[in-house]
Amino acid sequence: MEFFLLFCPIPDAVTVMSILKDAWQNTPRNWVGADPCGGKWEGISCYNSRVTSITLAAVGLTGELSGDISSLSELEVLDLSYNTGLSGTLPASIVNLKKLKNLKLVGCSFYGPIPELIGSLQLLESLDLNSNRFTGPIPHSIGNLSKLFLLDLSNNMLDGAIPVSSGTTSGLDMLVNANHFHLGGNQLSGTIPKELFRSNMTLIHVLLHDNNLTGSIPSTLGLVQTLEAVRFEGNSLTGPVPPNLNNLTTVKTLILSNNKFTGPVPNLTGMAYLSYLDLSNNIFDASDFPSSFSNLRALTTLMMENTGLEGPIPPTLFDLPSLQTLILRNNQLNGTLDIARSSSSQREAIDMRNNLISSYSETPEQRNNVDVILVGNPVCERTEATEHYCTVHQAISSFLLPCTSDQISSPNSKFSYPYTGVLFFRPPFLESRNATYYQRPVEESLMRSFKNSSLPVDSVYVNCPTNDSLGNLESNVSVFPSGQNHFNTTTISKIGFVLNRQTIENPDIFGPSQFKGAAYPYFDGNPTESNKLSIIGSIIGAAAGGASFLLILLLAGVYAYRQKKSRERATYLDLKNSDRVPQLKGARCFSFDEITKSTNNFSEANHIGSGGYGMVYRGMLRTGQLIAIKRCRQGSVQGGLEFNAEIEVLSRVHHKNVVNLVGFCFERGEQMLIYEFVRNGSLRDSLSGLSGIWLDWRRRLKVALDAARGLAYLHELVNPRIIHRDVKSANILLDECLNAKVGDFGLSKPMDNSELILASTQVKGTMGYIDPEYQETLLLTEKSDVYGFGVVLLELVSGRKPLERGKYLVAEVSRSLDRKKDLYSLHELLDPSIGLDTKPKGLDKIVDLAMKCVQEKGSDRPTMGEVVKEIENILHLAGLNPNAEAESTSASFEEASQDEFPPSLKEEELSLS
Ligand SMILES: *[C@@H]1O[C@H](CO)[C@@H](O)[C@H](O)[C@H]1NC(C)=O
Ligand SMILES: *[C@@H]1O[C@H](CO)[C@@H](O)[C@H](O)[C@H]1NC(C)=O
Ligand SMILES: *[C@@H]1O[C@H](CO)[C@@H](O)[C@H](O)[C@H]1NC(C)=O
Repeated sequence: MEFFLLFCPIPDAVTVMSILKDAWQNTPRNWVGADPCGGKWEGISCYNSRVTSITLAAVGLTGELSGDISSLSELEVLDLSYNTGLSGTLPASIVNLKKLKNLKLVGCSFYGPIPELIGSLQLLESLDLNSNRFTGPIPHSIGNLSKLFLLDLSNNMLDGAIPVSSGTTSGLDMLVNANHFHLGGNQLSGTIPKELFRSNMTLIHVLLHDNNLTGSIPSTLGLVQTLEAVRFEGNSLTGPVPPNLNNLTTVKTLILSNNKFTGPVPNLTGMAYLSYLDLSNNIFDASDFPSSFSNLRALTTLMMENTGLEGPIPPTLFDLPSLQTLILRNNQLNGTLDIARSSSSQREAIDMRNNLISSYSETPEQRNNVDVILVGNPVCERTEATEHYCTVHQAISSFLLPCTSDQISSPNSKFSYPYTGVLFFRPPFLESRNATYYQRPVEESLMRSFKNSSLPVDSVYVNCPTNDSLGNLESNVSVFPSGQNHFNTTTISKIGFVLNRQTIENPDIFGPSQFKGAAYPYFDGNPTESNKLSIIGSIIGAAAGGASFLLILLLAGVYAYRQKKSRERATYLDLKNSDRVPQLKGARCFSFDEITKSTNNFSEANHIGSGGYGMVYRGMLRTGQLIAIKRCRQGSVQGGLEFNAEIEVLSRVHHKNVVNLVGFCFERGEQMLIYEFVRNGSLRDSLSGLSGIWLDWRRRLKVALDAARGLAYLHELVNPRIIHRDVKSANILLDECLNAKVGDFGLSKPMDNSELILASTQVKGTMGYIDPEYQETLLLTEKSDVYGFGVVLLELVSGRKPLERGKYLVAEVSRSLDRKKDLYSLHELLDPSIGLDTKPKGLDKIVDLAMKCVQEKGSDRPTMGEVVKEIENILHLAGLNPNAEAESTSASFEEASQDEFPPSLKEEELSLS
């Protein structure tokens, strides 16, 4: 035994990995057994029983990185990105990992300095420490990393100067093989050293934006002929822009805005590929608009707000074939603005407010295709100026607008676990562009990037962006796997990488952007049992519409603390052993206090509905997330059982057309379920005019498709499959984008193997929707849901309730129906607000489908899967893409406005201490 102590043998992989494992929570479920190299441990690769790679991106790890990792002497890859729960300092001993090629710790919570000797990792190719809280200077020794390809230290709190080499020290200028210097979003100061750039460099991206840099741009930048993106915005740079930047012929993105540049507006005509140019808010010499810009054939976005421009705008500018966004506000531009020669088929936006423009001309087609703002110009100064370009059309806040609601490719081919997160971006700001404008381009751009990176991605779904308080747009992103129902950890790491790079690839859509990935505990196709914490992260991430990472962390922390406490004091309701409360996966536990606060003490104003089980309230969490709370009537045993059924069902289902369970609360004898709040109420409310939302025919078709997809998912893809049992328009909810979601699972039953359930006691359901066969036989099948759905279809065409003044809608329609006559002779029954002047396309087919669904015998009815296909066909026939935007011709949402929200929900009142 002494023998070992004397010689201090290097710990083997087994020992080291068990030390790491002990320092972390939420390690993958299959990290069991003694041998991490046995081929089983998720995220671990070995060679000759030595660990060579640890790739555990976004698995929800928490804890610290133990210095013992330095004993893994063969380690080449260490990727722990997107584990926000990983914190502590980066152990200095990490510099002993001499074989390390990739060190990726993006989006964790590491703090403290970057180890000074990091430059001794001679083989390092990528050093990616983006989005942590590192402080202190950028170590000089990084200059020794001669193989370094990617240096990304963005979005930390690094300070000091940008290190360059001198006689005795190394510096970043020595990194001649590096393609990427990403140093933006820190607190770097001093000048941009002229030594930083050399002609033998191979830099593609130089991102130094949003620091405290001063001095001028060194002319040496013009030596780096490989550059494609240069971002210096948001510093205090001065002096003229060096003329030789014009030599950089491959630059596509150049952003110099928000500095203190002086001198002439730079001549950039050499930049033949320049697509995105932002020079705004500098103090250039007053000058005519540079006519040479008309030669930048690739230009899509030109922003020169407040840059001292004067004289007329050359009409040749509008010859540029790709120009989409032109922001020249707050200058002295005069003369006529003549855009008539623009042949761009793109929708264009031109913001020229506060200039001296005296007249404006456009073609009639442009009237609809170009958003022009000339407010604050002489052309709009006449008192009677009523032209469309003399007002600023503020886009109505996005959640009242219809927008794209589907993934790009077939999302519902198979149930799968999407990787989710929040994308923050700041596209060129234009009032006339509402948030929906960005949804589809963002999806398409992401999809392209995934394809380019050959990632196994089936589709991408981005929700309607919302504005955060800093003026960023934020969207929840869901990336769906192709091939299998989940991503592995390596792919997650790559997806995160792509998402984080969007700003550079597509500045005109994204502007500066950032991605915060949620945890992804499904890498073996199942949510990890031991991994509830990370599921919480992903649920909150997905549901909160972009709660900040910190908050997610905080909430997760609270939960973890709670869990710990419960173990200590054993007072916490033991979910596993209680026979009343089912075991919950993927739902967060809320405290009673939290819910009380979120609802303003269950105020009357927040009471939004009632049922046999109790009441429904709406509330707002500290994160700003809106929730709906179903509060069980105290002492209601029946309700309790229904609750359990609902939790059990909901914790297993995840689909965009099914209402998402966020969590629950079982404290002080209360039982509450917490859902995502679906803003636009129920389909019933819309049809009856209660919610103020008008559904035209196209939207109705879309709602039908969404609801059918949700039900088909429950019937066909959840395991065990689920019969909803209470399909009705009041249980179909519409979100801010008018996507329909099936909700209220109070009566739901998982289907057992026989696929039939004998409903033992009484018939349950809602009058007017109850399947007559089930009523008679008490045999419950999924065809009962199909019946209910058929009734909903009839409601969509008629606007009527299923049972009105003693008359059943199904019977009424059957009686009037005459397929030989116009509109099937249903004029009397059709809802006039569909707009019946021109025959709604596909109306007859929807009626046919509805009548099939309400056949007496279940076996004569189609399955929900067949219903989905048929509705998709009908949408095609009606000229609509079932996987596209449900945008509407004459949508009038303006009045479906704020007053739907009771005063108690206004943010000020609910901003909780
Ligand atoms: C801008 O630079 C180009 C060379 O790239 C030159 O031909 C042109 O004359 C310059 N324009 C002005 C206005 O200086
Ligand atoms: C536009 O402004 C310039 C000076 O910036 C002036 O010389 C010119 O006469 C003005 N043109 C018109 C039409 O007002
Ligand atoms: C919002 O943007 C979409 C897409 O550009 C457009 O179709 C719609 O008319 C816009 N709505 C408003 C109110 O600006």
